[in-house]
Amino acid sequence: MNQLEKAAVLGRNFIDIRGGTLHMDGVSLAEAAAEFGTPLYVISRAVIDARIVEIKREFTERYQNARAAYASKAFLCVAMCGIVDESGLALDVVSGGELYTAMRAGFPAGRIEFHGNNKTPDELALAVSYGVGRVIVDAPGELALIEEALDTAGHDRISTRDYRPKILFRVNPGVETDTHDHISTGHVDSKFGFPADGEELYELIGRAISLDSVDFAGIHFHVGSQLFTNDSHLAATRRALGILKEIKRRYGYDTPELNIGGGFAVRYVRGDEPLPYGCYLAPVMQEVGEYCAANGLMEPIIVIEPGRSVIGEAGVTLYTVGAIRASLSGRRFVAVDGGMTDNIRPALYGAKYEAIIANRAGEPATDIVTVVGKCCESGDRLIEAARLQEPAPGDILAIYSTGAYGYSMASNYNKLPLPAVALAENGNARLIVRRQSYEDMTVRDLPL
Ligand code: LLP
Repeated sequence: MNQLEKAAVLGRNFIDIRGGTLHMDGVSLAEAAAEFGTPLYVISRAVIDARIVEIKREFTERYQNARAAYASKAFLCVAMCGIVDESGLALDVVSGGELYTAMRAGFPAGRIEFHGNNKTPDELALAVSYGVGRVIVDAPGELALIEEALDTAGHDRISTRDYRPKILFRVNPGVETDTHDHISTGHVDSKFGFPADGEELYELIGRAISLDSVDFAGIHFHVGSQLFTNDSHLAATRRALGILKEIKRRYGYDTPELNIGGGFAVRYVRGDEPLPYGCYLAPVMQEVGEYCAANGLMEPIIVIEPGRSVIGEAGVTLYTVGAIRASLSGRRFVAVDGGMTDNIRPALYGAKYEAIIANRAGEPATDIVTVVGKCCESGDRLIEAARLQEPAPGDILAIYSTGAYGYSMASNYNKLPLPAVALAENGNARLIVRRQSYEDMTVRDLPL
């Protein structure tokens, strides 16, 4: 790559420019677009693997008391379950649908952690009949619902005598985070978790400890997402350690696990400088070690749940450029064949992205345009001011860092079919999710 080409992919590992066109994991993205059509999500296996290696190197293999679960809400399909299974990580699911996807993939039940602020009796029945390893209780009536589910559905498929799901309680640590309001979850006004230190929390923990049907395993918090500092993880850890001390005081019980959630930031645009995992986690581990030693507690296993940081930078979305026009104000709009349906994040969070013309990636990016989608919404803008190689109809536009919360939040608004997902690996690309057809979209409709 020459200087210009290097600048075009600055800081994006596994993406390079060969013969003037953009490649990921050795796959020509223009060719992938021609083969599979657009819009198309392309996921790099090498980036996922590299992130998992970092998690192991900086956390699970560095400390004896460390475990990691992939937060599947960031991106989930049967093949992704396979990748996570191969990696040895656990899988965090938050709904019957995510759980069902894991079941379809044959993901080992014991390594599934079931979250959700409002799990339904049907979802809990599905979870216990599959035998999920952990349920993270997030609501006052949920422990009773789990007991009921174990009484009924638990008998269907597994011997309840051998099956005691581990139970954690999600607490709201009441800490502020420096991220978008919509993705901040550990502040005092959050809908998630039990207020830290509330009497209700301790009563439920006492009950869980006393029950034979479940195995009380610990405390969970998740403070927010796309966090560029370790401040809120650390503040919440201190809060949670106080809870562990109180559990010991009340029940004489050493809490085996403390799950500190996900939230590790990724790079979307130039200037984003995400921290390595160790920068969040080493201070947390130190704090845990010191606090436990000083207070006579057994050190808990610390669990993390990264989602975005595993898959975010592994994904690009490819679009075909269509209509190009200028508005009355002179703004130049470049419309692509997807939009807020495959990436709601700019409209929902004001999220910023960068793009490149994949088939002419070696040319200088001298044009500044607004990239819009094809939905009937003025807010359907993907990038406000994209610096691009002068786009022309038929070009393939690649938007970087769309692996997380793109496909998983996609919709059929305006009846746009959901894009396909291709996995790029060692110079080959293959579909792991096929494109939705018009037929797929109408197959559930019933006649009048
Ligand atoms: N664990 C729990 C309990 C969570 O609620 C979340 C994310 C995660 C782990 C994973 O967080 P991550 O490592 O991906 O930051 N749709 C939003 C993000 C919502 C995140 C919700 N919870 C977005 O597109 O930015």
